[in-house]
Amino acid sequence: MKFSPKTIDLKDGRTILLRHVEVSDAPKVIEFVHGFVYDEEFVPLSEGEFNPTLAEEEQILSNYIERPNSLFLVAEFNGKLVGNINVDGHQRKIMRHTAVFGMGMHKEWQSCGLGTALLNGAIDWAKNDSELEILYLQVYAENEAGLALYRKMGFVEHGRIPNFFKQNGRYHDEISMHLILK
Ligand SMILES: CC(C)(COP(=O)(O)OP(=O)(O)OC[C@H]1O[C@@H](n2cnc3c(N)ncnc32)[C@H](O)[C@@H]1OP(=O)(O)O)[C@@H](O)C(=O)NCCC(=O)NCCS
Repeated sequence: MKFSPKTIDLKDGRTILLRHVEVSDAPKVIEFVHGFVYDEEFVPLSEGEFNPTLAEEEQILSNYIERPNSLFLVAEFNGKLVGNINVDGHQRKIMRHTAVFGMGMHKEWQSCGLGTALLNGAIDWAKNDSELEILYLQVYAENEAGLALYRKMGFVEHGRIPNFFKQNGRYHDEISMHLILK
């Protein structure tokens, strides 16, 4: 098994199930992503850009399951997906020990410890059950919650690109961070 499912109590008393995605989750994943990405100012995706077919989404999830240096965790509450983290291991041999990740959740789940639970799960897996040695990410410089979470988990900044994101007539700086796992 790639990741042993865990139940986790959040700060607000709700209990979620943290587990690896399955190919059969594809319709739920599509619904979950549609439910939050376009409302988030710090997710670099414009209206209509997330539109995989069911078959394409199934293939994407299957890749996460098959690739030993990649992971796709979902947080489930009452059978509904409410958050996720996807760790994309590099496929070139020279960088297979590195992975970039992205994560997100519906607004009503933010700031109650779900991000901490998802990232803890991914880091534990990466450290103990994968060949990964380095995790890295890109984040909007104004994403206070994201920066607080990543710093808390030990990520350090290694770069900043001014005006990297250009949306709705505004520019936003990008911050790059990494965590050495082993
Ligand atoms: C960014 C995100 C992943 C953080 O996850 P989260 O579940 O909200 O964060 P947590 O509740 O686990 O909090 C992590 C830390 O950040 C801090 N934090 C939480 N919300 C915050 C906020 N709105 N502003 C500043 N700090 C905040 C908390 O104090 C916490 O530290 P603590 O445990 O020492 O108190 C989540 O808010 C999210 O998905 N946002 C929308 C999409 C997104 O931005 N994705 C990341 C792209 S890089």
